[in-house]
Amino acid sequence: MNAVEIEEALSTLAEKPFDAAEFPFQFLEAFGNRETTLKRLRKGDSNASDLPNGVLQRNNIHIAVSPPGQVSETLKALRESPKTAQGKAKFILATDGQLLEAEETASGEILACEFKKFPDHFGFLLPLAGISTIKEIKDNPIDIKATARLNKLYVELLSKNPDWAKAARRPDMNHFMARLVFCYFAEDTDIFQGESLFTSTLERMTESDGSNVAQVLEIIFKAMNLQGEDRAAAKLPRWAEVFPYVNGGLFGGSTDVPTFSKIARSFLLRAGNLNWKEINPDIFGSMIQAVTDEDERGDLGMHYTSVPNILKVLNPLLLDDLRAQLEAADDNKIKLLNLRKRMARIRVFDPACGSGNFLVIAYKQMRAIEFEINQRRGEPDLRTEIPLTNFRGIELRDFPAEIARLALIIAEFQCDVLYRGQKEALADVLPLDSSNWITCDNALHLDWLRLMDVDQAGVKLVGDDLFNSPTDQAEIGFEHKDAEFYICGNPPYKGRNKQSESEKRDTADVFASYPGSYASLDYVANWVIKAAQFCRVTGGSAGLVTTNSICQGEQVALLWPLVFDEGMAITFAHTSFTWSNLASNKAGVTVIVVGLAPRGSKQPVLYSDTEARQVDVIGPYLVPNSTVIVSARNEPLADIAMMYLGNMPKDGGHLIFTKDEGRRLIADEAVDPALVREYYGSEELIHSKPRACLWIEDEQLPEAETNRAIAERLQSVREARLHEKTAPSTRPHANTPHRFVQMSAKNGERAIVVPAISSENRPYLPVGHLLSGPIISSKCYAIYDEELWNFSLVASRMHIVWIGTVCSRMRMDFSYGNKLGWNTFPVPPLTEQNRADLTRCAEEILLIREGHFPNTIADLYDPERNKKPNPNFMPGDLRRAHERNDEVLERIYIGRRFRNDTERLEKLFDLYTKMVASQVKAKKGGSK
Ligand SMILES: C[S@@+](CC[C@H](N)C(=O)[O-])C[C@H]1O[C@@H](n2cnc3c(N)ncnc32)[C@H](O)[C@@H]1O
Repeated sequence: MNAVEIEEALSTLAEKPFDAAEFPFQFLEAFGNRETTLKRLRKGDSNASDLPNGVLQRNNIHIAVSPPGQVSETLKALRESPKTAQGKAKFILATDGQLLEAEETASGEILACEFKKFPDHFGFLLPLAGISTIKEIKDNPIDIKATARLNKLYVELLSKNPDWAKAARRPDMNHFMARLVFCYFAEDTDIFQGESLFTSTLERMTESDGSNVAQVLEIIFKAMNLQGEDRAAAKLPRWAEVFPYVNGGLFGGSTDVPTFSKIARSFLLRAGNLNWKEINPDIFGSMIQAVTDEDERGDLGMHYTSVPNILKVLNPLLLDDLRAQLEAADDNKIKLLNLRKRMARIRVFDPACGSGNFLVIAYKQMRAIEFEINQRRGEPDLRTEIPLTNFRGIELRDFPAEIARLALIIAEFQCDVLYRGQKEALADVLPLDSSNWITCDNALHLDWLRLMDVDQAGVKLVGDDLFNSPTDQAEIGFEHKDAEFYICGNPPYKGRNKQSESEKRDTADVFASYPGSYASLDYVANWVIKAAQFCRVTGGSAGLVTTNSICQGEQVALLWPLVFDEGMAITFAHTSFTWSNLASNKAGVTVIVVGLAPRGSKQPVLYSDTEARQVDVIGPYLVPNSTVIVSARNEPLADIAMMYLGNMPKDGGHLIFTKDEGRRLIADEAVDPALVREYYGSEELIHSKPRACLWIEDEQLPEAETNRAIAERLQSVREARLHEKTAPSTRPHANTPHRFVQMSAKNGERAIVVPAISSENRPYLPVGHLLSGPIISSKCYAIYDEELWNFSLVASRMHIVWIGTVCSRMRMDFSYGNKLGWNTFPVPPLTEQNRADLTRCAEEILLIREGHFPNTIADLYDPERNKKPNPNFMPGDLRRAHERNDEVLERIYIGRRFRNDTERLEKLFDLYTKMVASQVKAKKGGSK
């Protein structure tokens, strides 16, 4: 169940008459427990409680219904019950139907409230559904409640008005919902005068079957679009005259309202009964956009970008600087005034703004700074000088775009109330600004310079032709022309295989002016390059959240030289962190933040979860002090062994079989044992479960074909290849069915093998050492018949850190590449002694692994176990052997262990740069 569903279920439960015997089960049902689970608890099979009327669900909650007036005593009994600890209850909860008390056992945090009000605190209880809450939600779940109420209304209206669900009317529907949100907010904040004016008018004036709701709403909306003489001429009914002129684009245009059913009317009124004053425009906006999105609706209430994450962009981008200036200004009135004037000129632009959360937070934070300035200058009541319309956005979808504007309006009003007082805020709020400063369009089709009025030629956009004119566009100028520009946001990430055809075309168009092909870039790269182009002209800065893929692997060499050629530098960056939302079933995406500004304009700062470090330069891999871009090589840069991609069978399943089948072929079908080899892909390697394959050299073929079982298999391969549909290039290989389609340049007796894809949660790459003359599949890379110190290198921390940085990732996995990862791996020249020491380390790792037989690499380096807070999950002896290996290798690099991975990377990049330079020099010297 998602948060919205739980909130609804709890609200329904609180409204029902209290049933002491049933309450614990009803409560658990509201959190999504199935009937079978409840049945077992009811029967007592799984109920481990030792209290009268107690229900203990293991690993979850211990509930007890108390006698009237004894809730605190019952909670104490629950706390002291040994069963609570034994059953690992996360919560204890006691109620008598009048009061309710609960406690989170780990934190000791307590909830105490009237029984009827406990759904208001459902954020506190959400961990029971496996949803980890964020403080804002826990303290104030109004945003989820509001989303839930509006969602019900939306779904009901669409079912009653199917034509409004069609693409042509969706914008009207979305506009209608935005109007409602404004009305709910306005009636709870006295923007509308009178107690709950909107909801109470609806209650009074509409029929309970919903039949005239549309007409009443139409009249109310019409009233809010009329002023002065027009209002008098319109002869509004008396009950509608009390609604003020609002417009601001919100009530202009069609006043059409969908038809209401009885249920829709009751949802409309129920939503009105919430206290919308408390709404958080940043949180609510993100949540509510899911209402109109079929794909996202399942996770309703879960989509929420936490303020701390957004501040990872906004603080280093501009807020830190403003706060530093505020501090430096101290009480100096002139300096304070200058800072206030500066802030009035700042334009914040989010070119994929969704419901405007980055803009809202930037606005609110700047208002807080401005308030502090006004306090220090003794002008606390001053009207704000920060124009709301300086916070601009582009958003593709119309509903979030509407909500973004509304969220900003709400944020402005809330700030006015907070800093200037209710009276002043109310005096200024209406009518709303009639301008539209959130553009609903494709950001990649627009000229951002014109949109942000950079050429000061006015910002009205004109399409290339009559049929392609932007529909909904910003149409207003800015108050100050000498602006400072900041781009921010988290644009859509989308790797190549997730992009639609039109998105692929967007990338081709955005990069059209650069030579070469950029098709393999993630969609987000378009925002990075457009931001760079924008900042080159304006001298502005940008801070974007992106997936880390644009700073890893092949994408680096494609994107970053262009960004740097635009005169940009990475002026701040936040290394990988998880961008999560409330959805318990969704692992957050791993993202980074990159900040751009004209080169030389700022001292770069590199942020991680633990530190902020000033550096000379930040490179495209987000490594300090090196801007080098690592390019794939055909041979190793260092004096280390060659590594080869394995063999690709494309055999229709006829050359590969189980080991048992291999034995049977030899024993029953008289197949020559020399033709049956062990076969390893990545699964076979890490689970120590090789399969077998037929491996026939050309000269062995005539003899081999005389065997009936082999001949049959080769015939099957031939046919499979002839009929191959997806990869036509396989078909010619039907003529050589005894050979794999792609053969490695080398095979050998002993192989150091590493999988092409492996989990990033392992502390080391799962490298294996095979002695059986194995055939390695193309899911692995291998080094054949070389000394074992090469194993020591592949198994080292240095290597996995290098691979994690320069090779691409597939989701959360490393994608190993010999050309990009191994051949580029910088290793200092190794002495005989170094090689002997490393060989000993490799032998020790292998011996210890053997000692743990039958545990496999998969068991010994289990990434799942590593995810849990248990960094020492590897067997102690194996971990120590790896640490010795790292110690020996790292001493070769710098004479001691590295302090952390950042230091490792710094050294690796430094060495890489030097080694490449000296090779180039040597080549030049050689060619003279
Ligand atoms: C990752 S969301 C971020 C929205 C918001 N900042 C948040 O955290 O909820 C990206 C937004 O970009 C919008 N978007 C996608 N493609 C776009 C395009 N080509 N132009 C403008 N907006 C786009 C999506 O509709 C979505 O609202």
